[in-house]
Amino acid sequence: MNNTDLQEGSPPYLHTRYLSEAEQIHCLVSPTYSARLATARALRQEVQYVQIALDVAKRTRGAQRRQVEDQEHRLHELESRFTTEDNLLGALAEALIRCSGVWQTQEVLLIDGRWMWPLPEPERLARVDRMAALPERLVPPHDAADTTFTMSLDFGLSDVHVLVTGAAGGIGLETVKLFHQLGARVTAHYNSAAGELPNLQSVVALQADVRDEAAVDQLLRQAAEKNGGPVSVLIVNHGIWPSISYQIVDMELRQWQNTMAVNLTGPFLLCKAFLQGLRSASDQVKETASIVFIGSTAGKFGEASHGDYAATKSALMYGMVPTLKNEIVAIAPRARVNSISPGWVATPMAETTLQDKAFVERALATTPLQKVATPADIARQIAVIASPVLSGHLNGMNIMVDGGMEGRLLFPPKQ
Ligand SMILES: NC(=O)c1ccc[n+]([C@@H]2O[C@H](COP(=O)([O-])OP(=O)(O)OC[C@H]3O[C@@H](n4cnc5c(N)ncnc54)[C@H](OP(=O)(O)O)[C@@H]3O)[C@@H](O)[C@H]2O)c1
Repeated sequence: MNNTDLQEGSPPYLHTRYLSEAEQIHCLVSPTYSARLATARALRQEVQYVQIALDVAKRTRGAQRRQVEDQEHRLHELESRFTTEDNLLGALAEALIRCSGVWQTQEVLLIDGRWMWPLPEPERLARVDRMAALPERLVPPHDAADTTFTMSLDFGLSDVHVLVTGAAGGIGLETVKLFHQLGARVTAHYNSAAGELPNLQSVVALQADVRDEAAVDQLLRQAAEKNGGPVSVLIVNHGIWPSISYQIVDMELRQWQNTMAVNLTGPFLLCKAFLQGLRSASDQVKETASIVFIGSTAGKFGEASHGDYAATKSALMYGMVPTLKNEIVAIAPRARVNSISPGWVATPMAETTLQDKAFVERALATTPLQKVATPADIARQIAVIASPVLSGHLNGMNIMVDGGMEGRLLFPPKQ
């Protein structure tokens, strides 16, 4: 092949101007490439003829306007066909250059805009053997192809037992309502006051102080007894944010230990009791099993004067999630563990702090969405990540739901 008739500057081009001579020879071994190259060249030639005819028609005095328009239309159509063919040829050349000589001589098929080679018989058979040798749970049945899946608003949580901790609080209550709407069997945990929970029909409300191991064990036991069997989805939502600000240097050990007990030991006890219950649960319960922790931007960026809180959230997001995702599958092979980490949310926990306008402005200084989240913003993400249908292959992730926050504003510019 001669590269000289494909010089840049004399459009329309063929993609081959980008290929070295060796690469062109490499591609030409493929029958598909040769055939398509011939088509592209013929098209290019036709483009040139029509272009000449059009130029002549335009220069001819008394030429019919209609004739010129027809030529222009034809030229446009040919150019567009040529561009498509040229792009396809370019993609094919790239694929051929990446592939070994074995594939070169094969006919190539254009499927869904991608070039595909039918596997040679020996390799195809070897692949079938390899697939057959894989443990069953690694290979979805061939008729479960995603192409048959129709996207719907079915979260796959109908009749799934979901336990939400700290459910009387801002995010917790919204989460309970949403799971209930999605058809889940919801157990709502509270600590000091049940708040609105008793008014929610068919939601089972149970009390426990999560710092107490016996109380947590009883919570999981009672949930199973009163709400149709073991818990399948655990939402570890409860938490405290001591509103009084102490840097580590001045923080009392008592405060530190209490925050640890509620925000970290509590989740540990809950996960332990949950996993023990999961051991003897049915396959159906195991199939939808998952744990969702509620982390915080404090766990990612730290939070000056709230180091106790920040440390517990980091431990959940970056210690518990990646550890438990690897442990839980020994009990339930499809079970998942993730966390949802909000920035500021308008709930009772943050109510007093969010009344301080200067504080809110500072807190949002690195947040492009420039707003505090609503509890519903967070609850929806919790439901999505807990859904075995929408997030069935999402595991070990920490999802920041913080409006795009980039960090803390330490030194605001002076006015
Ligand atoms: N609001 C925000 O800006 C924000 C931001 C990032 C992350 N988060 C996280 O989101 C989660 C929910 O927060 P929220 O804003 O909805 O707070 P909230 O309204 O204060 O709710 C927190 C819940 O945790 C419960 N709780 C506290 N101590 C407990 C204990 N010892 N045992 C059992 N439960 C206990 C509380 O119950 P009692 O009051 O009865 O003790 C309360 O219902 C928390 O993990 C929080 O850290 C919140």
